[in-house]
Amino acid sequence: ASNQMWGGRFASGPDAIMEEINASIDFDRKLYAQDIRGSLAHAAMLAKTGIVSSEDCDKITHGLNTILSEIEDGKFVFSRQLEDIHMNIESRLAELIGPTAGRLHTARSRNDQVALDFRLWVKEELGRTEAALTRLITAFLDKADQHADTVMPGFTHLQSAQPVTFGHHCMAYVEMFGRDRQRVRHAIEHMDESPIGAAALAGTGFAIDREMTAKALGFREPTRNSIDTVSDRDFALEFLSLASICAVHLSRLAEEIVIWSTPQFGFVRLSDAFSTGSSIMPQKKNPDAAELVRAKTGRINGSLIALLTIMKGLPLAYSKDMQEDKEQVFDAAESLELSLAAMAGMVSDMEIRADQMRKAAGSGYSTATDLADWLVREAGLPFRDAHHATGRAVAMAEEKQCELAELSLQDLQTINPAITSGIFDVLTVDASVASRQSFGGTAPSQVRKQIAWWRARI
Ligand code: ARG
Repeated sequence: ASNQMWGGRFASGPDAIMEEINASIDFDRKLYAQDIRGSLAHAAMLAKTGIVSSEDCDKITHGLNTILSEIEDGKFVFSRQLEDIHMNIESRLAELIGPTAGRLHTARSRNDQVALDFRLWVKEELGRTEAALTRLITAFLDKADQHADTVMPGFTHLQSAQPVTFGHHCMAYVEMFGRDRQRVRHAIEHMDESPIGAAALAGTGFAIDREMTAKALGFREPTRNSIDTVSDRDFALEFLSLASICAVHLSRLAEEIVIWSTPQFGFVRLSDAFSTGSSIMPQKKNPDAAELVRAKTGRINGSLIALLTIMKGLPLAYSKDMQEDKEQVFDAAESLELSLAAMAGMVSDMEIRADQMRKAAGSGYSTATDLADWLVREAGLPFRDAHHATGRAVAMAEEKQCELAELSLQDLQTINPAITSGIFDVLTVDASVASRQSFGGTAPSQVRKQIAWWRARI
């Protein structure tokens, strides 16, 4: 049998394979609430403009609300023959209220309908992303508060570079996730235009009121070009782009947690709640959640590339290729939400081993720059000469197998006679971090300033 929704010109129904490749109901049923909300707004607008009678609008509204509860109660029967969520709902509406159901699709197409539903969904998802980011940022602010004075090694090339504070390191992630949250807010602003009323691509001859539907659906205004409206998936691409950037941040954090929690580093202890054991090695406590977050980045980035590739080369306006947008976004959204929640949990539960961090912070000649800076400040050396002299001090310490602070004053004076015992004040890690009071630097006083700045913006 030919399709009851569009089968007028068809003598027979689709091949089974055609049905399988064509149907999107298995994934776009996720859009049911947005689809019904959009239809309710469209019907109200059709009544207000006199395009359908208010009795018909009442019937349609009642039917749509019935369908909403049927779906939410798990009583709705989805059908693949009806392709997608739009036609599943419309067909059920016809069963419930008869031929009046057919008036709902006046001045509308599935092309603007799907653009609307999907945009509403992505907008709502972005609200959840923003909240999840806020929770993660808060977890880091709390840790930064507790550890504004906790020294740890700062790294370049994963080698000890200069001592920093753990609070400062936490605040680096606050900045990263704070930028992600700004991207979310901007994306919501960009997509805040209502597609409904663009119809198939050319607009409609009916005297519709797009301002009314835009307002009813919580959009700032209607879109301005009907062709672009049904062709555009920038809102989905923006979601996937910001999700990918955020996932990259999460992955870098995950990697650090994996490294920090190794017995070799021992900077943190993961809570039992966010780690797993080994089925063979009883001593192990594995950072599985961190590793899975790191891996989800691959899925999320993959979704971005998939949708970019789906959209590339599509002529205006709608092509069925665009139906493939949803699974990418749904999968990425689920992965991102889960990753953000797992990270917020891991970070707040994580036990910081300040003793281990301090020990590592002092090793590897991490205060060499402080020694060079002292020579510049106190002995008037040009920085390059001070750098060279400090290099000799490091070589000497290496030879004696000791730390810089363990060299004797006599030894240091053979390198530069201007050195006094005052040098020892800057060779400790605490003195080193306390001295870095430049704006945005690692000194605890600076870190506290940045924490306060963020607290005011949370
Ligand atoms: N299921 C379709 C999609 O997701 C709805 C739009 C169908 N439009 C069309 N002209 N075939 O894109």
